[in-house]
This record gives sequence, structure tokens and C-alpha cells, in this order.
Amino acid sequence: MRDLLPEAAAAEAWVIETHGRVAGLFGYLPIAPPIVEYAELFERGVGTGTDIVEKEMYAFDDRGGRRLALRPEGTAGVLRAARTGGLCDDGSAARLFYSGPMFRYDRPQAGRYRQFSQVGAEYLGETSPHADAEIIELGFQVIRAIGIEDAHVELNSLGSAAERQDYRNRLREFYAAHVNELCADCQRRLDDNPLRLLDCKKDAELASHAPLLSSAWSSESRDYFEAVCSSLSDANISFRHNERLVRGLDYYAHTAFEYWHSSLGGAQNALGGGGRYDGLAEVLGLPPTGGVGYALGVERLLMVTADTHGAPGGRGAEVVVCSVSTAEGSAALALARRIRSAGIAVEADASRRKLDGKLRSAHRHQARIAVIVGESEVATTTAVVRNLGTREQRTVPWDELGATIAHELHQEKSL
Ligand code: HAM
Repeated sequence: MRDLLPEAAAAEAWVIETHGRVAGLFGYLPIAPPIVEYAELFERGVGTGTDIVEKEMYAFDDRGGRRLALRPEGTAGVLRAARTGGLCDDGSAARLFYSGPMFRYDRPQAGRYRQFSQVGAEYLGETSPHADAEIIELGFQVIRAIGIEDAHVELNSLGSAAERQDYRNRLREFYAAHVNELCADCQRRLDDNPLRLLDCKKDAELASHAPLLSSAWSSESRDYFEAVCSSLSDANISFRHNERLVRGLDYYAHTAFEYWHSSLGGAQNALGGGGRYDGLAEVLGLPPTGGVGYALGVERLLMVTADTHGAPGGRGAEVVVCSVSTAEGSAALALARRIRSAGIAVEADASRRKLDGKLRSAHRHQARIAVIVGESEVATTTAVVRNLGTREQRTVPWDELGATIAHELHQEKSL
């Protein structure tokens, strides 16, 4: 697990903030279930045959002997929290968004970590294809708001639970004749999770001859899928029907999708993904509830976007108040307090270092203005305001500092 130093932490905070802003524009409300849940929630929800539960979940017994897990994903917890908290009880829908750390015992590599952050949204209590399209559009708009213009959606339908069962059987029959050609992982998965064989990178050639998921669709499933497609076209979202997209979680039926970007290389390296999970609530022992949602990987978004101009980038304050000697230390702190009360980010440097060194480090930390206070300034209740870019400077009375600096910063920004 990694430390996020200021620049990375600021960038993640910016993604989370941007997500909340865009989700708010679609009328979504925040929800924050805990990071630790009963392990059973994920075993039942995500599925015991999935990699996430079987190989990647951090599960442990607490001191009271409860079997718990660090959440590997957000959907099961959000649905549990919403329904046990009474949302949707009156039959109305709930539009919810969330963010935070998730945990998977994965092999760490670029874009794949054991603790990572997701931003996500779940639209509960609504089963029309327009809900699927709204969710896909929301995730897509978030990706755009992060500055990524060339992502696209890979879309598929897994059909109903019964159709998927039928398809599983057909897949097992197809692969039965080729067991010896399969990689070790796929041989193991063939019995309990044959769908995963379709997106195995090692066995891609064989998968290209496997029966197609759409061959198991009923006409209702086909209509549903086509309605989602047409709604996405109306919203001008670029998408592609990917017959082999199956997703790594068991709770999906009908719509399944991922957001891809060419620089990440597709399957198992998506920017994000999601789908419809109408059967999940019952599997968890909750009242039946339709649902569709997505989650985006914050680290993946940041790998792809070149432009995090919305993020402060781990910079310090724009203004630094420097005392000339330690004698003016408390004057420097008082002036910083005064400038801060005008709503301006400011640091005080009342250290023992020489003034030159203080100015150099202010410049290095990208401060734009230094306020210098020495013995003669204290005597005349003034300070020297120096623009660190142009090196122009002037003497300003203490009670005009806030206004003068605000004006100076504003002028710079409008240049
Ligand atoms: P997921 O596809 O497992 O779906 O994860 C969503 C995204 O989280 C991935 O596309 C990826 O960007 C990011 N991600 C997953 N694992 C890692 C990792 N080890 N390191 C870094 N990033 C990672 C879900 O989690 C579902 N809950 C999505 C959903 C919401 N379905 C319905 N509603």
C-alpha cells in the first residue's frame, strides 16, 4: 500500500471533489458506508467464485470473533446501507454517489494497488434502460470533467440470470473439448465461473471461437440492450458493443460496461466499470431493489489525464510573511493572521534563517508574494510587499495589507 504525498493527495482530492460536483448536477446525493463490513456481504454479493473474493479480499476475525473484510468495492455496502437505512422504502428511487479507499490483495503494478480509491454512483429502485444510460452518461461526464476527452464505453448485456445460466452451460460444453489448451487459471475457473474465460488474455484466441453471449438473449433482453444503446447515442456517448465483456463480479444481469482508454490497454485495465444488478438485494437478504451503477478508479483517471489544473498540485500558500530576524517573529505571525482573515492562503516564516534563504524557499515553493517585516517596519507599523515574479516591491501599512495583496494576486491572475 502506498503513501500519498501532498501532490498525489491533492490530485486525488480534486478527482473526488470533481466527481461530487458532476454527480450533484445529475441530482445524486452522497452516501458513505463504512470501510469494514461483514465478509459475508462481499462473499454473497460479489460472489465466492470471483477473483476479488477468492484471492484478493482482506478478510479477518475481529476481537469479538466476527468475520469482517476491508471492502474490495463499494456497491454491496451502498445497497446494504441504503436499504437498511430506509431509502427506497416508499417505492421511490435513490440516486447516490460515494468515494473512498477500496482494498484488494492484487500484485501491485502501475494502475493496480492494494489500496486504491474509487468514485462511484448507484441508481437504486429504477429498472428502466434510461437509468442504465443515465449512469453511463454520468460516469462519462466525470471522465470528461477530469480532462479525459478520448475515453469510450465498452458495452454488453449479460442477459437475465436464467439466460446467463443457459449460456454458462453452453460455454462449458464448448470448452470441454479444449480443456488441455487452457491456462491453469482458466482450467480452475471452468467449473464455477466459465464466463471469466472469455476475457482471459492468455486464451484470447480460443475465446474468439466461443459461442456469443448474445446468442442466449431473449427478445426482452435484446430490446433492453437496444434501448440502452439508443439512449447512449442520443447522449452522444461513444460506445462499442463488446461481446466478450463479462466483468469480474457476479452480481450483474443485463447491462455491463467499462470505460476504456487506449493508453491503459483495455481488458482488466479499465478506467472504470459497472452495470445493472437487480438480483443483488435479494442475494443479500434485502427487499428486492433494482440497481445500476459504476465505479471509476481514481488512480487510473490520474494516470490518463495530463491536466490536473483544478488541483492545487501540492503547492504551499501563495503568500509568505518573512521576518528579517527572530525579533520580528511574533509580528510576522500577527501579519499572517491578518492576511489570512482576508481569505488569502498565507504561511509565516519566522524561522532563524537569513532573509535571503527565506525568499529563495518561498520562490521555490511557488509562492507569488513575500511580505517582509524587519525592525524599521515594526517601528512604523508597515511591511514590504514584494512580488516574487517581477521583484517589484513597496511599503504598505499593516491595515492595508489584506486589500493590497488581494488586489495584487487578482491582477496577476487576470494577466
Ligand atoms: P470494478 O471493475 O471491480 O467494479 O472496479 C472499478 C474500477 O476500479 C476499475 O475499473 C479500476 O479503474 C479500479 N480498480 C479496481 N481494482 C483496482 C486496483 N487494484 N488498483 C487500482 N484501481 C483498481 C466495481 O468495483 C463495481 N463496484 C462497480 C459497480 C458499481 N458496479 C455497479 N455499481
